[in-house]
Amino acid sequence: MNQIQLSDNIYYVGVNDRHTDKFENHIELPNGVSYNSYLIVDTQVALIDPVEANFLEEYLFKVKSVLQGRKVDYLVINHDEPDHSSTVAAVIREWPEVQVVGNAKTFAPLEAFYGPIANKKVVAEGETLSLGTHTLQFFMVPMVHWPESMVTYEQHSQIVFSNDAFGGFGTLNGGIFDDQVNLAFYEDEMRRYYANIVGKMAMQALKAIEKLGGLEIKMIAPSHGLVWRSNPAWVIEKYTQWSKHESEEGVVIVYGSMHGNTARMAEIVARGAAEAGIKEVKVYDVARTEVSFILSDIWKYKGVILGACAHYANMFPNMTLLVHELNEFKPKNKCYGLFGGMSWSGGGVKTLAKYAEEGQWNLAAESVEVKGAPIREEDWDKLYNLGKAVAISCLSGK
Ligand code: FEO
Repeated sequence: MNQIQLSDNIYYVGVNDRHTDKFENHIELPNGVSYNSYLIVDTQVALIDPVEANFLEEYLFKVKSVLQGRKVDYLVINHDEPDHSSTVAAVIREWPEVQVVGNAKTFAPLEAFYGPIANKKVVAEGETLSLGTHTLQFFMVPMVHWPESMVTYEQHSQIVFSNDAFGGFGTLNGGIFDDQVNLAFYEDEMRRYYANIVGKMAMQALKAIEKLGGLEIKMIAPSHGLVWRSNPAWVIEKYTQWSKHESEEGVVIVYGSMHGNTARMAEIVARGAAEAGIKEVKVYDVARTEVSFILSDIWKYKGVILGACAHYANMFPNMTLLVHELNEFKPKNKCYGLFGGMSWSGGGVKTLAKYAEEGQWNLAAESVEVKGAPIREEDWDKLYNLGKAVAISCLSGK
């Protein structure tokens, strides 16, 4: 059988999820996701991060086909979230003497999910565990993605098993390594993963990157997405850039419109942004594009212009999730603009302004509220100038 090796006696035994519609039941997965797991076969055998429970049969088949009758001695849990840990109990049933390796924060949540674990091995920051030729070393990276998150560094091969850090959406379609695929696709899916999973903890992600900076790293093997063997520096640089909130030149315009009038306003705003010299202008209908895609583009680009029509005295309901996520994830160094329509009531722009105040958004221009449709020249000018002002602010780096 063709086994996938990262290095001598280190195997990829992960699976692809092409069934789940939504990651964590709220983030769309049009391209699926992989749950990566790794097996180190030495004097002792270590399995690093299992997979999601729906893939148990395929997973155990892969592990056993490498092991050829040997047993697993250590099961390393870098992170408790069930997309990785929900096969823990099954792995223990399969190899009852296995020692489950985690840190001081790992086991309370793990046992709350899956019940008591008999053979626990608690490791501390920098502690090592010899498997024979290979030696595992553990580094804590709290909040990347949960408090117990850690990474495992294998000293002999110089591979970092980074769990969620440096991960991304998208199944591995035959190509497992970064040098076997078209990176542009995976970059987009990595940024969407970052913006919606890791971005809220950008500071902690930076600390984790700093910590790993002291290691010789030949390969980064996350628990989702590609294994970075040809150019791990590339993915470290991307993560650093996103964690430092470094934006690219571009404007994301998102509108919520019930009868098409605020959508017409968005077109005018977009003209203003484009004519000011912005080549990357993205326009999204918040009722049609799921928030994770929009948040990913907002993380990438500097300008953000939000438009909402009124809905009773509030704003178009689908916009609420996006602005909530913006104030939760707090992408920094942005320039914002607000617009929207009113009919018998206002409320769209007023509600957006409330979120702007709460989130301390940097507004590049006065907000624009239009009565009815944008058919009057003064309204057209205001909307056009709003797009232009945000664009100029982006171009000037303010
Ligand atoms: Fe992939 Fe936070 O779990």
